Amino acid sequence: MTATSSKILCVVGARPNFMKIAPIMAALRQTPGLDARLVHTGQHYDVEMNQRFFEQLSIPNPDIDLEVGSASHAVQTAEIMKRFEPVVDAEQPAAVLVVGDVNSTIACALVAAKKGIKVVHVEAGLRSFDRAMPEEINRVLTDQISDLLFTTEREALTNLIREGVDPTRVQFVGNVMIDTLRSCLPRAVSPKQTLATAPDPAVFLNNPNGYGILTLHRPSNVDDPIILERLLNVLGEISADLPLAFPIHPRTRAMIDKAGLSTRLDSPRFCCLPPQGYLEMLGLMQGARLALTDSGGVQEETTALGVPCLTLRENTERPVTVTEGTNTIVGADPKRIRQAAQEVLASGGKAGRIPEYWDGRAAERIAGKLAKWL
Ligand code: UD1
Repeated sequence: MTATSSKILCVVGARPNFMKIAPIMAALRQTPGLDARLVHTGQHYDVEMNQRFFEQLSIPNPDIDLEVGSASHAVQTAEIMKRFEPVVDAEQPAAVLVVGDVNSTIACALVAAKKGIKVVHVEAGLRSFDRAMPEEINRVLTDQISDLLFTTEREALTNLIREGVDPTRVQFVGNVMIDTLRSCLPRAVSPKQTLATAPDPAVFLNNPNGYGILTLHRPSNVDDPIILERLLNVLGEISADLPLAFPIHPRTRAMIDKAGLSTRLDSPRFCCLPPQGYLEMLGLMQGARLALTDSGGVQEETTALGVPCLTLRENTERPVTVTEGTNTIVGADPKRIRQAAQEVLASGGKAGRIPEYWDGRAAERIAGKLAKWL
């Protein structure tokens, strides 16, 4: 199949994709000669995980919705592929643009590559070197079949060259997620408003240490009840000094309930929240003394905001958040987590600096380079 237009099918599926696609769609639609269409796979579908982000980030309504929903990795990936193939056949795009590392990313990249359609990967070259993470498999495979790879940090190029990717295909453009953060900061919802739903809001608002923001959703942290219980115990200890706002991912909520651990959060030192909108989350992060997280996006966002972050994983695919930013990797060991949190409370934590090209203009660079390339 030969591409005859500069139509670009941009793919989103899951929550972390939405912050990335918002500035890309805006930039592509402003660039003469590019015709950007949005395909939503439907990997995330709850209002809280999906619709609210489209509204807050002014993402255009998807031109095509595949409505795949949740399933095992194999079934979800296969279903996306099955439903995306006829779309590619009908639309005949010049390129398919995918972002990040979720199942929708690899599924659509694979369909396009097999049809000889150019694949563009935004956020290429990040590596945790941990193949137990489904996202790591998605990253490695997507990069192997991509024709144009846009990176967020310089280290990514080293990873790609090691894996045999032709460096002339790689362009360092910066971080589109930070484009979104910078443009939304003036509209961030005050944490006072969000924390008003805490069992006792004064615990959060009048605490001399401030409050912490907690997110947890990685299978490695939440799927094993023993690990989950250990984490909730140490987080309970930390909450004695630093009350914790905890927006709970649906997967984590289900695991906590299944393991009979919901009473661990039954304390005025926790503010358990449903998944938050982007503007609410931004306000909560900006106002926090400390973030505790296993999310990739939160590691980057706290670096951009200058808020100390403890990553509850053994590794990160975003090393610049550690070498230049505010991030510290502490794993899932309670002792290490407790110690690191105490250090932040005592010393204020890492100050960090903003990494190169995390300047709010990454999508503009992508649009410029794509227009020349196609
Ligand atoms: C996915 C991504 C992960 C990303 C995360 C952010 C993959 C492999 N993983 O993980 O990289 O960090 O999104 O959220 O693509 N669910 C709902 N409502 C929804 C979506 C999911 O209730 O709108 C529940 C379902 O029970 C589902 C579970 O959450 O089975 C997990 O969803 P899934 O999309 O499989 O993976 P995430 O854990 O969200």
